Amino acid sequence: MSEGQKQNANGVAYQLDPLRGFEGLSTRVQQMPVPGPHQVVVRVHAASLNRRDIMLMEGTYPVTARSGVVPLSDGVGEVIATGAAVTRAALGDRVTGTYFVAWNDGPQSHALSHEQYGANHDGWLATYVLLDEDSVVHVPAHLTDAEAAALTCAGLVAWAALTKPLPVGPADTVLTVGTGPVGLFAIQHAKMLGARVISITSSPEKADRIRKLGADEVVNRQQTPAWEQAVLDLTDGLGVQRVVEGVGRLTLPKSLAATAYNGEVVLIGAFPAEQGSEPADPLGGKYVGLRRIAVGSRADFEFMNRTIAEHGMRPVLDRVYPFERAVDAYRYFETGDPFGKVVITLP
Ligand SMILES: NC(=O)c1ccc[n+]([C@@H]2O[C@H](COP(=O)([O-])OP(=O)(O)OC[C@H]3O[C@@H](n4cnc5c(N)ncnc54)[C@H](OP(=O)(O)O)[C@@H]3O)[C@@H](O)[C@H]2O)c1
Repeated sequence: MSEGQKQNANGVAYQLDPLRGFEGLSTRVQQMPVPGPHQVVVRVHAASLNRRDIMLMEGTYPVTARSGVVPLSDGVGEVIATGAAVTRAALGDRVTGTYFVAWNDGPQSHALSHEQYGANHDGWLATYVLLDEDSVVHVPAHLTDAEAAALTCAGLVAWAALTKPLPVGPADTVLTVGTGPVGLFAIQHAKMLGARVISITSSPEKADRIRKLGADEVVNRQQTPAWEQAVLDLTDGLGVQRVVEGVGRLTLPKSLAATAYNGEVVLIGAFPAEQGSEPADPLGGKYVGLRRIAVGSRADFEFMNRTIAEHGMRPVLDRVYPFERAVDAYRYFETGDPFGKVVITLP
């Protein structure tokens, strides 16, 4: 451990006993971890929830939560101890972490996708988190702790959808489907990249809010159930170059119908289709690329953060809860239809 690290003090960690719903969330005393040569200890300032954290609780996520794991993949804090060989972080740095423990750059593999903070490696809903130094990502300086705690999962997957394999730009129209955190980040990122944005949502109130966030045109799916036709009309019948599909197979046929020749639908949402409603040809006979993606690599994260800093962009936050009310944050997140991220701050 480096000299100058802060005094060892006991903290508190939430732990998850999966498949028990909210009953499975409890707290325990957490000793300050001792970092190995290539690890850092972060004193957590804030953490935030993603849909996957509910799925992990319910056992519907592709990775099974380890019993007793500290939940949440997203958070921010200060590096308070570093292993002797650490070069990627220094004491006092304000950092977040990658979603995957070891996906730094290049293509993802099945093995890399199954090692995740907050699932089978301890995550951020605790006083301390122990990270491999390769997982450390520095956060844009202009963001508050609550905002910086919002980036790891929803922020990055929306970024990866818009920048890989090639970034969208001013000549492109992007369609966002769904206004959860993934959809909101997709609107903000697409505007930073210079694209025109058309967004689908369910209410006039959300329509106003996403217009303010940068959406150029908004289609209300309740008022216009054939929203794919509305998107075609808005693009002179041509369709959009990229769809950030934040709902899933339920809306996929409409998203495909709204896509231009050689356009691309990036499938992020995990909502299943209704029973028996899946079309025989899920691509609807169209010539479009379909990419299913999982968050992004550390390199993607650092590229996103440079762009966020350059533009002074800020993530959308809905509510901020204190650490001792983390279970209320989970409940609100599950049932409250939040607009933006639900964040938990630590004392
Ligand atoms: N692959 C990955 O790496 C990755 C990463 C993050 C999240 N995800 C997944 O991506 C999805 C979106 O995440 P999120 O955090 O943004 O989710 P979220 O908070 O659950 O939001 C989903 C949004 O979808 C819209 N929606 C819900 N039901 C709909 C329906 N029947 N038809 C059309 N739209 C509907 C709603 O927006 P409106 O009311 O505005 O229509 C809702 O706000 C989730 O399934 C999540 O698990 C995947």
